[in-house]
Amino acid sequence: ATGPNLFEPERRNSVGFDLFDVTELSRIDTARDTDHPTCAEPLLAGPLLGTAPVRAKNPATGDVIGKVVTATAKDVETALATAKPWATPAAKRAETLRQVADLYEQNFGDIFALLAREAGKTLIDAVGELREAVDFLRYYAVQAEKLDHPARGVFTCISPWNFPLAIFTGQIAAALAAGNGVLAKPAETTPMIASFAVRLMHKAGIPAAALQLVPGEGRVVGRALTSDPRISGVAFTGSTATARQIQAAMAANLTPGAPLIAETGGLNAMIVDSTALPEQAVRDIVASAFQSAGQRCSALRCLYVQEDIEPAFRKMLIGAMNELALGDPWALETDIGPVITETARADIDTYIANAQKSGRLLHALATPTRGNFVAPTLIRVNGIADLDREIFGPVLHLATFKASEVDKVIADVNATGYGLTFGLHTRIDTRVQDIADSVHAGNIYVNRNQIGAIVGSQPFGGEGLSGTGPKAGGPNYLPRFTADKVDRVAA
Ligand code: NAD
Ligand code: ALA
Repeated sequence: ATGPNLFEPERRNSVGFDLFDVTELSRIDTARDTDHPTCAEPLLAGPLLGTAPVRAKNPATGDVIGKVVTATAKDVETALATAKPWATPAAKRAETLRQVADLYEQNFGDIFALLAREAGKTLIDAVGELREAVDFLRYYAVQAEKLDHPARGVFTCISPWNFPLAIFTGQIAAALAAGNGVLAKPAETTPMIASFAVRLMHKAGIPAAALQLVPGEGRVVGRALTSDPRISGVAFTGSTATARQIQAAMAANLTPGAPLIAETGGLNAMIVDSTALPEQAVRDIVASAFQSAGQRCSALRCLYVQEDIEPAFRKMLIGAMNELALGDPWALETDIGPVITETARADIDTYIANAQKSGRLLHALATPTRGNFVAPTLIRVNGIADLDREIFGPVLHLATFKASEVDKVIADVNATGYGLTFGLHTRIDTRVQDIADSVHAGNIYVNRNQIGAIVGSQPFGGEGLSGTGPKAGGPNYLPRFTADKVDRVAA
């Protein structure tokens, strides 16, 4: 099945891009993409960044779903030279963002298809993603109407593939709501979704000079867009390692004080003590660790279960894991879709194989042979200190603790340096408060799952290695995109 015809012939406009050169999906070469161009040279060393179209692939099947034009050095320069703040009254900006939200909702079918086919999103995740994108647009529209500070200028917005619509839209909507111009660089693996979204934004009336799509490799195009002094600030979501590179590039090149708003990775834990309701905890753990194939920054990575209940609890958890259906993200019955690329799958597979060799593999489901699937997996660890990095897939680590060791667990969690989400299942009220006071985490969830923060009511973002703040979808986010200017000073 080819699905809806989403793609139009390749075309570019003077500023920004429309990307697609695919008209009939069924006629596209489905061979493995062995000639994916990479741009090894830094921008300044070469005249062209991307000379050949990159093939976008369906992570569930490996099929090529389209070709994507990447920005050349000339394109990047044109974008930087022509980018302009969105000089229109706040009420108009808010109205236009609401129109974008309306267009997103009207185009839900195409958006779901793109999310499933380019990003491997299951339908339930695609619904959540569209809702979040729309919430960002409407929430920042309201915030824009209350702002009383001027825009900073032009922001570079750099987003990850795991929320290719919601985070892509949230960053852009915030920068635009505050009156800035935006150069948007989507993740390499999800430019089609980005392009579709930008087309809807332009259709709603956001001027082309105020919003330009500049697709390409992060270390080339992204680097160029974060190291040019014409940029007034950067909104970035992605890995902690990339945030560090951007921070260094900005420090060397941009005006001192140009903000970096970075939302980065996490090593997230949950505690289940012996007073927890096991059925509820198991349901919430499965969602936290395995929904979206574990490809959420908020996902649960290390579960601590109180020693007394662990054997029975583990049995129940494994039973629930066995109920999960892996497969085609476009199918209604699917719970877990693919991970994003073959490289990601190979990396996670190696990690799991090493756990198996060292006798720590507790459980893994069977994996489909075609596509980038990784089966939900449970691995034994002594504690979170055994996790030396964020494994971005459906891999859950299980540790036990004694009743007397809660403080040590929290100290170990804090010692990772990350601070994104934390989950707690308990019926002891004082424990909730004690842990909330002592754990370093931006978002703490009690007796529920720890993913899927809701814009407006659960502002989302971490501390330490997990991000700079302010939290996305919260009241302090938009002011960061403005200049805190004092017009008159009393004598
Ligand atoms: P990534 O850091 O590899 O890439 C993110 C973006 O940065 C991409 O658009 C990429 O092209 C760009 N990029 C890469 N190198 C660059 C450079 N040198 N200069 C400028 N831009 C560059 O991350 P990813 O693999 O796309 O996403 C997964 C990561 O994102 C995970 O660590 C996850 O935890 C994190 N994440 C965090 C949040 C959050 O809200 N805290 C949300 C989603 C994902
Ligand atoms: N905002 C996303 C979540 O809470 C990352 O899961």
